[in-house]
Amino acid sequence: MTTTISTEELAIHGGPKAFEAMTGKELPKIDTEEFLSIATRFGFNDQALGRIADAISNEDMEGNGPNFARFACPRPKATMGEKFDQRACEIMGVKFARGTSSGTGALHAAMIAVGVQAGTEVILPALGFVATAMAVRLAGGKPVFCDVDASLQIDPAKIEACITPQTVAVAPTHYMGRVCDMDPILAVAKKHGIKVIEDCAQSPGAQYKGQCVGTMGDVGCFSISCYKIIGGGEGGMFITNDERTFERACQLAEAGGLWRGAKRFHQPDYEGQVFWGSNYRMSELEAAVDFVQLGKLKDVVGRSRKVAHRVLGQLKTYKEITPQASNDAQGDIGYGLRYLPQNKALAEKLTQALGAEGVGGSVRSENPTPDWHLYREMLPITLNDSHPSYEKGACPVTDHWFGNMLTMGLCQWWSEEDCDRVAAGMTKVFDAYCTEDPQGAAWI
Ligand SMILES: Cc1ncc(COP(=O)(O)O)c(C=O)c1O
Repeated sequence: MTTTISTEELAIHGGPKAFEAMTGKELPKIDTEEFLSIATRFGFNDQALGRIADAISNEDMEGNGPNFARFACPRPKATMGEKFDQRACEIMGVKFARGTSSGTGALHAAMIAVGVQAGTEVILPALGFVATAMAVRLAGGKPVFCDVDASLQIDPAKIEACITPQTVAVAPTHYMGRVCDMDPILAVAKKHGIKVIEDCAQSPGAQYKGQCVGTMGDVGCFSISCYKIIGGGEGGMFITNDERTFERACQLAEAGGLWRGAKRFHQPDYEGQVFWGSNYRMSELEAAVDFVQLGKLKDVVGRSRKVAHRVLGQLKTYKEITPQASNDAQGDIGYGLRYLPQNKALAEKLTQALGAEGVGGSVRSENPTPDWHLYREMLPITLNDSHPSYEKGACPVTDHWFGNMLTMGLCQWWSEEDCDRVAAGMTKVFDAYCTEDPQGAAWI
């Protein structure tokens, strides 16, 4: 039997609707349980968790509950991601900043933004971290390593010899809380028409001649992770003053196109604005933590500098010891100290004696495991690709320093008394094994 419905009976023509509303009740997707899970991850004990649970048990998570979208539809409040970007612009003094899920993601986006692609080369320091070289490879380019000088930063005088017709960029890493000598780096880049990507992962908040690292080249990249001086879990960001560079980096880092807002599905505004990319969005929860962390950067840097200056300012100079040179002693952060004894035997003697005094410090062993901060031991690159600059001996200053230098950490939380005791302990050991030389290289 067939029933016939006339078109007049359809709701569209004024007939009764098939049904008025769904009867299933919508529950929040994310609720108090997730909130407690975060509290658990923060490390609160069971009693504290119980009190938090009591406090929030009556909260009504209306409708679908909280929304952790990084790029939200129009809504009254800015997302934490937006707030993070805004704060980063203010702190760094730049026009554009974007949080990412990692420093590696930020570097990949920056490489693509400045035109790294198959058949191109990017010059990197022989000391840094493998992530920078991997970002070059991800973009399709080839990393080429350049030796460092006694500051352990890329040697500006050796960059020109690394430039070929394929070179599109140089990516100096501000290594371990110190700054690169940016003026000659920028000059050689300008002369050859290549871009500058500053890798600031290890030195956020450091300055060169009063300018924040990351603001002098075409793009600055940062890791804001738990392994760095600020950062909660995993995060990063890129900063720039150039709108097109920013947009291209955004497109790589957020290829879903949400960064373009309402224009998301529209034709590009100019050639090269829209292309395939990835998703390196910083999550809202990470942004909530890192927004606060950004605000702490100035104090972290200030405390670290004070400690470094107090310790180093008390040390005498010695014939047998060359301290790491500085390109800007006022701008360095100074959470670590590196110095070069005249030979390995002395380095080992000093390490043992300093350890016994309670000062600490380490020197590389004779049979070390590969270290991914050293050009020729960045296995993800060197095992899968070749270039003369990946060979042992290609960067002799780096080889000499890395194999023989003493490394020790300085802690931002040391009291003045702690600093004085560390300086006295170092002086005790140096006086015993070395010859004081007022003409020797200064510590600061
Ligand atoms: C110099 C340098 N660049 C990039 C990175 C990568 O950052 P992330 O671990 O956030 O990807 C690091 C991390 O250690 C680093 O030290």
